[in-house]
Amino acid sequence: MTRKLLLATRNQKKKKELQDILKQLEITIVTLDEIPGLPEIEEDGATFSENAIKKAVTTAAASGMPCLADDSGLVVDALNGQPGIYSARFAGEVSDDLQNNQKLQKMMAGIEDEARNARFVCVIAVSDAQGKVETVEGKCEGKIAFETSGEGGFGYDPLFIPDGFTCSFAELSPKEKNLISHRGKALQKAKPLIMELFLR
Ligand code: IMP
Repeated sequence: MTRKLLLATRNQKKKKELQDILKQLEITIVTLDEIPGLPEIEEDGATFSENAIKKAVTTAAASGMPCLADDSGLVVDALNGQPGIYSARFAGEVSDDLQNNQKLQKMMAGIEDEARNARFVCVIAVSDAQGKVETVEGKCEGKIAFETSGEGGFGYDPLFIPDGFTCSFAELSPKEKNLISHRGKALQKAKPLIMELFLR
């Protein structure tokens, strides 16, 4: 029997990351692009968890397949948790990574090194087609840099210095980042939930 898990994203990098983590489990991962007719889901929850659950449950029900969804973002202490769930659209509805990073830098201007603590948070929800859903969370603590550095990654990576490092997320290889990142940690925690889905 083929075990198929639907990943509620169109992002092929996320698919590759999950495939690497689940490679011993003989699970085929499919993304939204491979299943036509699924509804677009509005991320209108008040927390990462609400958004991840909504995406996983709705997509699983609509497709009839077990589904994994994630929601993540950057939480900055000095900005009372902003940009948080609004990380993708911090500088406006159609903002890109450059604009979001510029807005963050501007809001952090004049804030001392000691007060620049931040973390990336990722919540993963795993739902079966009947709506039985569970969540796990991964975090990566660090600081907001004064200047951007590095060309890799995406989003706020050039401004985020993970604890224990002197370089930004954007200067790490994907492999190095996955080992310490919020998403990498959440995916490792999600592994037993995924295995359990297929044992039911
Ligand atoms: P998503 O929920 O994974 O799509 O992430 C939402 C937004 O959070 C992204 O558009 C980025 O702005 C930010 N973000 C999430 N994860 C990362 C990361 O690993 N590096 C940099 N930015 C991230």
